[in-house]
Amino acid sequence: MGYKGVMNRLAEELNQTLSDSIAYGFLSPLGRRMYFPKGIVAQSDEAKEKAKRYNATVGLATRKGEPFYLQDIYTAFKDGIFKPSQIFSYAPGGGDKTLRTLWKESMIQKNPHLKGKKTSLPVVTSGLTHAISLAAEMFVGEGDSVVCPDLFWDNYDLIFSDLIGAKPVLFPFYGEHGGFNVEGMKNALMSVESEYVRIILNFPNNPTGYTPSKTEAKEMVAALISVADSGKKILVLSDDAYFGLFFEEETEKESLFAYLADAHENIFAVKGDAATKEEMVWGFRIGFITYASKGFTDAHLDALTKKTLGMIRCTVSNCDRPGQSLVVNAIQNGTHYAEDKETIFKAMDERYRIVKKAVERHKDERIITPYAFNSGYFMAFSTNGRNAEDLRVYLLDKYQIGAINIMGHTLRLAYCSVEPEGLDEVVDTVYKAAEELWS
Ligand SMILES: Cc1ncc(COP(=O)(O)O)c(C=O)c1O
Repeated sequence: MGYKGVMNRLAEELNQTLSDSIAYGFLSPLGRRMYFPKGIVAQSDEAKEKAKRYNATVGLATRKGEPFYLQDIYTAFKDGIFKPSQIFSYAPGGGDKTLRTLWKESMIQKNPHLKGKKTSLPVVTSGLTHAISLAAEMFVGEGDSVVCPDLFWDNYDLIFSDLIGAKPVLFPFYGEHGGFNVEGMKNALMSVESEYVRIILNFPNNPTGYTPSKTEAKEMVAALISVADSGKKILVLSDDAYFGLFFEEETEKESLFAYLADAHENIFAVKGDAATKEEMVWGFRIGFITYASKGFTDAHLDALTKKTLGMIRCTVSNCDRPGQSLVVNAIQNGTHYAEDKETIFKAMDERYRIVKKAVERHKDERIITPYAFNSGYFMAFSTNGRNAEDLRVYLLDKYQIGAINIMGHTLRLAYCSVEPEGLDEVVDTVYKAAEELWS
């Protein structure tokens, strides 16, 4: 076993490469120790290129250059589309190269402000949860503060507080005018005493379904730049799980990452996104992590990528292969790809509009209050100090309607998973149940 309290030479080299970059100061003790070993994976990658006669590197049973396989699995895939290796082999460390390139191209297409900006090639992770926890393990140490709006995906608690031992610094999600609380975000960042501050932002947001307007997004970027100007170094982790589901004209349609990628030497932008929701393949477990900062060189990005590959290697080794092949095939050869994506977007847009109208009909009721929402899969109600768990249980027991209690003060509805015909009834019943319980 290698680690005996002495830093591995490859880790030292990567740290040396990163030492003049903003990423260096963010590395946790684990992030500093991390490297991508020149072990079996790296050697077999090299052999794939050069071992033209016999390649005896990988522990994968092959015949005539293709893996052995069970017919019952292979025949479940349509004839002639995939070679056995595209289903059964290990995916390369970091993921299928074609998928990584396609994802980067589509990221630029969907975020025109990324055009011409230097970013790493996205690394494939085992879903977005994995991308977030990798970033947390590499760049957040025990006791470090992590700034986050107070309405967040509950898994952040497990990742940042329980797994890492970081300290959450929360600020109210909504500002006085009802939109995103830019001022609160800035104050929270400035309140962290350390020179290095981390923030995680998720839009379209889970649980609120809110994405900042174009004006708010500009203000957010300006606020982050002004914190960076004050001398603080900021790591901004953009969780773009529900990217693209924007239903209103004035909503910002690009990831913050696109604006932050070259915004300031003191801003380290990390983007976590995923095929899981963007390509509707939730169970395939395909996410991505991408890095950028104004001061990054190619060598910095390469060193960060190698550390990320090391993290993947020592946890899940590599990620799901058939899922990656299926997504590449759909993007490259799909005959219904764009059309199906459009259909699904329209279906979500329709549900959003029904819920919006349903909520509007109850605008004079005061027991529960909907948070502003304009995007994604969800909307949520503040229970105004009353226990949201009581409302959840009551809805379930009396009306057989399932909703989620968030932290005892918020009730979340995932309208993405209710047929349009049922949405009016769901919203009306939530109001009725709140009235029955609490008026
Ligand atoms: C805000 C947010 N981020 C990340 C994820 C994780 O997605 P994945 O299924 O790709 O791990 C979710 C899933 O519910 C989410 O709601």
